[in-house]
Formats: sequence, C-alpha cells, structure tokens
Amino acid sequence: MAAPDLMNKIISLAKRRGFIFPGSEIYGGFNGFWDYGPYGVELRNNIKKEWWKFTVQTREDVVGVDTAIIANPKVWEASGHLASFTDPMVDCRQCKQRFRADHLAEDQEIPLEEVAAKGQCPACGTKGELTEPRPFNLMFKTYVGPVEDSAAVAYLRPETCQGIFVNFDSVRQTARKKVPFGIAQIGKAFRNEVNPRNFIFRSREFEQMELEFFVKPGEDEHWHEYWKHERLQWFLDLGIRKENLQLREHEKHELSHYAKSAFDVEYNFPFGWKELEGIANRTDFDLQQHAKASGQDLRYFDEVTKEKYFPYVIEPSLGVDRALLAFLLDAYHEEEVKGEERVVLRFHPKLAPIKAAILPLVKKDPLGTVAKEIYKKLQQNFSVFYDESGSIGRRYRRQDELGTPYCLTVDFDSLEDQKVTVRDRDTLNQERVSIEDLPGFLLEKIS
Ligand code: GAP
Repeated sequence: MAAPDLMNKIISLAKRRGFIFPGSEIYGGFNGFWDYGPYGVELRNNIKKEWWKFTVQTREDVVGVDTAIIANPKVWEASGHLASFTDPMVDCRQCKQRFRADHLAEDQEIPLEEVAAKGQCPACGTKGELTEPRPFNLMFKTYVGPVEDSAAVAYLRPETCQGIFVNFDSVRQTARKKVPFGIAQIGKAFRNEVNPRNFIFRSREFEQMELEFFVKPGEDEHWHEYWKHERLQWFLDLGIRKENLQLREHEKHELSHYAKSAFDVEYNFPFGWKELEGIANRTDFDLQQHAKASGQDLRYFDEVTKEKYFPYVIEPSLGVDRALLAFLLDAYHEEEVKGEERVVLRFHPKLAPIKAAILPLVKKDPLGTVAKEIYKKLQQNFSVFYDESGSIGRRYRRQDELGTPYCLTVDFDSLEDQKVTVRDRDTLNQERVSIEDLPGFLLEKIS
C-alpha cells in the first residue's frame, strides 16, 4: 500500500473506531493536540502497563516515581533547557508562516545553511523569501500564583527525566538502592513544536516513558549496549515486525548537549525511518549540573570501594504516543476473506484494547441473558465488550477493526452444552470452549 494511503487510513480508522480524535474538534481542532477515545485510552494504558512491567515490576534494580509537571524554574536553568532547548526556525516573509528549518532542509534536500537562499515556502510556494534560521525555545511558559510577572514564570516540563534527577538522592536513600540501579517514570511532557506533524508522531502535548539507569563511570558503555538490546527486544516481544525496526547511532553533530553517545530505535513509518525511542548515554551531566546549581552533594558513595562519584546515566526514552502509532501501523492489515475485504488490527493480545467480545447469535432471550452473564463474569478480570446489534458478520468486522483477538458467540447449542464458539481474529479458526473455562482460556491466550 502507498505510504500516504496507509497513514490516511490509520487516521481515519483511529477516528471512526474511537481510538484518537483531533483535539477540541468541535471548535475546529487545535494544532498539535489530540484526544484519545475509548479504545485509544485502553491501548495507551496497555502500552504503559507493559512498559512498567518490563522496566520496573519485573526488575529488582529499578524503582518508579511520579514527579510534578511544573518544577522550580531553576531546574530548567540547570538542565540547560532554558538556554538550549531550541529548534532552528524560519519565517516566510510572503505568507508569514513559520517552519522548522531542519525539516525544511531535509524535505527539500538542501543544506541547513542554504535554507534562506534556496528554500521554498512549504505553504505558499514562494522561493527565496525565507528568513535565516533562528533558535526557537520549545518550552511552554506559564505563571504560578496570582501575579503575572517575571518572578512568577514557570514552565511545563519538556521531558520527564529532570524530575528523576532532582529526586535522585531521596529515591536512592528511601529505596536503599546501590549503583547500578534505575529510576523510571511515565508522564506528560509538553513542547511548543514549531510544526507538529504526522498525526500523533510529533505533537505539543505527549507522554513519555523514561528510565534513568545510574551506573559507575567506566561501566556506562556496557550498560548502553545492554539497554539497546533490551529495548529492541521489548518491541519485538510485543509483535512489532523485525524488518520495521532498526538502531541508528547519532552522528556527533546530532547529539544533545548532555549526551556522550546516543542511539535511536527507528521505526519504518509511512513517512520514512524515524526515531521511535532514544537511548542516550547522558554521562553525569545532569547530576553535576543540579549539584552545582542547588548546592546539594548528589554524588554516590560506594561503601565497598569507598569512592564518591557522580554516576553516569543511560537513558532509554520512549513516547507513549509515538509507540502507539507504531503499534497501530504495524497491526494494520487489509485482506480478502470469502470475497469480502476485511480490515484487521493484529495487535498483540496484551495490547489489544478489548480482549474478547461477547456476542449472542440473535438479539433474543435466553441467548442475551446467557451472554450478559458471561460478560459480567469476564468483566471482573478482562476488558471485554458486549454487542448484540447487527448481523454476526458485521459484529465480527467491527471487532476486527478494534483488534479484538477473540469473539465469543453464544448460540442455541450453548443452552444445551454450556459452551460458546470462540473465533480467533487472526486464523479465523473457530472452536467450542466451555463457559466455565473461559477465564482460564483467555488468561492463557493473553499472557
Ligand atoms: N529525556 C530525553 C528526551 O526527552 P527526546 O529524544 O527529545 O529525548 C524522547 O524524546 C522520546 O519522546 C522520543 O523518542 C519520542 O518517542 C518522544 N517524543 C519527543 N518529542 C515528541 C513529540 N513532540 N511528540 C511525540 N513524541 C515525542
């Protein structure tokens, strides 16, 4: 399928089936903001749950935190964000629109330094009317308290990890952790992106899942390798196709101000191979900066070697929304079944928003009553869906588009044998399973 077609189909399906809506849509939308509907929120929650389980729950050397979105502005001064969290931007003198110079250079295949002279405005098409690139700070400003003066200025966090660095010592002490260990967080981040684009790939409000893994200097490269491998495996285990993933090392000029080296896990998006997750070696930059600015000693004391040092940090950082887009794209399939087109989202069962749909064959008692009882029982442990409207074929198609792995049909035989027909989303195989065994059946299939 042509790439723009696939993207349009995903955007349309996401809206039609209640995954993702344009933000503030009844007011004409709001560029760079998206709202998640009933199935989008389930998918998001499942992605976050799997990440947390993998990163925190099943490890002895990682603990979690949930820190404030708005921090003391000194945090952003120390981290370098106030000075250098910028993107190069150009304005079109003709139509007055603003663009990211590096994106424009990439799209038009010209060097960044020649954007003003040779670039063409992507909006009005005028050539040679773009300004020289200027840095534009991406931090969202707000005021804390009732007076809107410069002393009250604060910022919405552009990354979640600074909340981890400023709490490093309290967490280490209270969790009684020794280096190497990690602190993880999932939370919202905000960036005033010049050109939000590609649906939820680049938005102004998004969510990050970040791990800061603190290690002894000198052991950083070993741990960088380790996390590259772990993070790739996480995507593969959740069903992303291997051929759609690659690791790419940052060239020197691409490195963020804090990084010694960095790799991107890239996904083969319809708009090209792009960063899905960043895995950086942040050295001791952040702890050093916060120690200097706050006057607190944030060094780690190794009780065995009696050394005191600033740990280095390996940081895998993944956007929930970007991951969700990759899982949606990878799951999307069109195929022909018995002469009819079928659209199906082949989500890994752990990620599927709904694990099973309960469908009485006809909208009539006693089938409805039996189906409702099954629904009530399964609801206690699974996200399930009850649907009695339309033909059974239409109901199957609806569930295929939501990526539901199992449809459980209650028919007249169910009244006799206490079994339902379970239809598998991917193989389309059907088998009879006893009503009593359904929780165990689903648990086994999903885990
Ligand atoms: N703490 C490091 C950090 O924030 P980053 O590469 O700027 O590094 C990490 O962001 C991840 O956050 C990206 O790989 C991406 O998945 C996600 N992300 C960053 N900016 C985003 C945006 N504007 N919209 C959606 N996701 C974004």
